[in-house]
Formats: sequence, C-alpha cells, structure tokens
Amino acid sequence: MTGNREQLQNAPIGVFDSGVGGLTVAREIMRQIPNEKIVYFGDTARVPYGSKSKDTVTKYSKQIIRFLRTQEVKAIVIACNTASAYALDEIEKEMDIPIIGVVRPGAKVAADATRNGKIGVIATEGTINSQIYSTYIKQINSNVNVIGKACPLFVPLVEEGLLKDPVTDEIAMRYLSELIDIDIDTLILGCTHYPLIRSTVGKIMGDKVTLVNPAYETARELKELLEAEDLLNKKEIGLGENKYRFFVSDGAEKFMRFANSILKYGILSAKTINIEEF
Ligand code: DGL
Repeated sequence: MTGNREQLQNAPIGVFDSGVGGLTVAREIMRQIPNEKIVYFGDTARVPYGSKSKDTVTKYSKQIIRFLRTQEVKAIVIACNTASAYALDEIEKEMDIPIIGVVRPGAKVAADATRNGKIGVIATEGTINSQIYSTYIKQINSNVNVIGKACPLFVPLVEEGLLKDPVTDEIAMRYLSELIDIDIDTLILGCTHYPLIRSTVGKIMGDKVTLVNPAYETARELKELLEAEDLLNKKEIGLGENKYRFFVSDGAEKFMRFANSILKYGILSAKTINIEEF
C-alpha cells in the first residue's frame, strides 16, 4: 500500500446537517465504523431547512461542502433528509469524492421491508413536498404505495428535550392516525430528529409496523462504499487524536449540550465558523 493511500484512508469523513439532527447519523457512523474520524458541521444559524426552498437548501449545502473540503475529508455524508432530498442529485454530479445522503439508503430498506406495499414516510415539509422517498421507492418497486406526512412540530419538540412527554404523545397521535387508518406496514423516520422519538412512534404504530431508521442504513451503506473504494481506515484511532471535530454556524454551547445528551462520547468543544464565507 502506498503512503498516499494510507494517508487518504486516515482522512476524516465530512458529515453535515442543518443543526443537531445529523448527530443521529454521526452516532451511527461512530457505532458502525469506529475507526473513522469525523468532521461534523451543523448549520445552527440557518436551521430549519425543512421549511426552506430547494434553491436555498442547495446553496447552503454547497457552501458547507466547500467548508468540509478545506478539512480534507475523504467522503461526505449529507446527514439531513431535506438537504439530501433537495441537493444531492445536483451536488453529486460535481463531486470527485464519494458523497451519500440519508434518503436513498432508507428508501431501499423500506422497499425491501414492506409486505403489503403500503409505506408511510414522516419528514419535514420540504422532504415530503419533494416526493423523493416515493421516487426512489418506486424505482425499486413501482407497485408500492408511498404515503407522506409532514410532521413539523416533531423537530422543536425533540430540540426542547420532550422525547418522552405527554405533549409529544398527543402530537404524534394526531400526525400518525391517518397512517394507521391507511394500514401501512412500514414507516420511514425520514427526518434526522425522529429516531430520538422512535419509541413514541413505535408505541402508537404498534408491533406490526416496521420502523426504518435511515441513519442506521446510511452508516451501513457508507461502510460498504468506503470498503469498495478502499477508503476504510484500517488503523485504530484513540479519542484524543482529533477523532471527532464539531463545527457550527451559531450557538456552540447549545449544540454541545444537545450533542452530549445523545452521544456516548463527551464533546469538549464545537467551533463556530462563518459559513457565509465559503
Ligand atoms: N435535519 C432536518 C431533516 O432531516 C430536520 C431539521 C430541519 O428542518 O432543518 O430534514
């Protein structure tokens, strides 16, 4: 193996999201490929993406990718469903390093999982309006019926820490009842925050509905992609060696509090950068 290849394998993976939600994806990458370094960017100054236009989300995503490239990342994960829905198709044509989003991996697993051909998707308004999950699923199986439901209140509820709370139960019941009536057998948690209220959603949907977590599937697909490209880091890295680095566009303290509530590793710092400069 050449020194260059080893250097490349040792480079970090760039992961980005509109804010804290993508940490659910980073968490899965940490679990499934623990030798990988991560540079995470959360666009906390411009969150939410879920209610913004395709042009705006694509412009933001391109700026973030330009920033991540300054960190010499070997691959990029768009850890945001809305940005994956709106920007991935355009951006991947311009990239010379591997890039994946969270939507395609989730869609693939859901298409495999359904038995009655009725898949529900819960996500932001942007992701639902883009119909991206439906498009990918129908490419795999055109007979499947995909029913989308925007759940805009879930993001603020999760960010307020109301993961197990009667208010969240009540809102979830309202959002999910129409999916229960339609008798879906598979439900995609199509927003970065939703895996954090998985138990609430699961309780309401019942045992017969398979919940698909795109964060989990994305980490699995990323591992396969890095293996195929001979980019997996083969060396063990200790936590002190700049293994996980975090950048935000605002509110570093709040970001760190949230990160430390869901990640296994204590995060000591998050650096604020001016993303508009990129
Ligand atoms: N990260 C976003 C997503 O997965 C949710 C938060 C937002 O609206 O920016 O779609």
